Amino acid sequence: MKIGSTSENRNIEKRISITPEIAKKYISLGFDITLQNNYGSHIGFNDDSYKNVGVNFVNDEKEIISTSEIIIQLSLPDEKKLPLFNEKHTLIGTLNAFVNKEKLENLKSKKINCFSLELLPRITRAQSMDILSSQANLAGYKAVVEAFQVYERAIPMMMTAAGTIPAAKVLVVGAGVAGLQAIATAKRMGAVVFATDVRMASKEQVESLGGKFLTVEGSENLETEGGYAKEASDEFKKKQEELLSETLKKIDIIICTALIPGREAPKIIKQEMFKNLQPGSIIYDLAAVQGGNTVFTEVDKIVEKDGVKILGEANILNKLPVSASNLYAKNVFNFISNLYDKENKKLNINLEDEIIEKTLIK
Ligand code: NAI
Repeated sequence: MKIGSTSENRNIEKRISITPEIAKKYISLGFDITLQNNYGSHIGFNDDSYKNVGVNFVNDEKEIISTSEIIIQLSLPDEKKLPLFNEKHTLIGTLNAFVNKEKLENLKSKKINCFSLELLPRITRAQSMDILSSQANLAGYKAVVEAFQVYERAIPMMMTAAGTIPAAKVLVVGAGVAGLQAIATAKRMGAVVFATDVRMASKEQVESLGGKFLTVEGSENLETEGGYAKEASDEFKKKQEELLSETLKKIDIIICTALIPGREAPKIIKQEMFKNLQPGSIIYDLAAVQGGNTVFTEVDKIVEKDGVKILGEANILNKLPVSASNLYAKNVFNFISNLYDKENKKLNINLEDEIIEKTLIK
């Protein structure tokens, strides 16, 4: 079978879906791989490093699509490329099924198999394919690094002959994959870390990383069977607001990661709460693209509000595209290995396999 991948729009996406290491693995499973010229050269993977393991290169993306049966991308291809797909194709990527519902329905009506990997079930067998976890983990780390870089004070406590510098106090809002990595990263740098989540299950995880969990009464009921957060009630939001308002008085840096799948991000840091923050405080909002966890977040801008800087980017993973691509490529490879029938050398879309059933656009 032939696998192809075309270059992403590099103005918005620097990650790639197939690294040389992973291309080698596909080839040893029996796949042919075709990539577009300079596919990974912008992040240090030049064409020769792929050619050495047996990858073919062409410059015309139309040719790649027309000659491949499986197309692997980061995001849904653009309007120019989509009409080139037909029923022989299987498209695999982070297709953003909630946002691209109509486009995906259109592809489905043309009998194209689309697998959207953000829909993977959070089960043990799918962990090695879990693109949300691998990317969120890196995002959580990088959000802390970015916030610390803008913060104009030191992070760890330092006792010097000239006096003591207190440790920075960090609040992590949302203790999922990104939030837990943010806690670990901030702790490693010597910050004092607080965290909150609507899922009580995260309390133990926060504490095991040395964070202090801020419990809002009612958290025990806000987890779905899939392990995600539910939308909170107005009463819960009020309690959370009171708790956070009080906490913010002692906080220097906030890392926001709170998300509810398929919905706009919850607005957690409200306008009135800003008066409790000291000038010089930093907020890094990882939920920026989904609308932000603060009322002032703007994508790709540093907004300044009463001396507090609020940062948020469209794609923070573009700041560590090599690490992100290495993990993404491995996740997709593991997904395809599960989908591929090695004996008959074809894809086996077995809807009794929860991993396949949940990710296939139907
Ligand atoms: P996510 O990216 O959808 O959300 C981030 C965090 O924000 C979540 O912890 C969520 O509870 C929290 N949140 C939502 N609304 C909030 C609010 N109003 N206030 C405070 N926090 C709020 O979630 P993510 O990181 O993808 O993880 C979701 C779950 O999946 C977790 O339980 C995680 O442990 C689980 N998981 C399981 C895996 C497995 O293979 N078993 C793999 C990865 C994650």
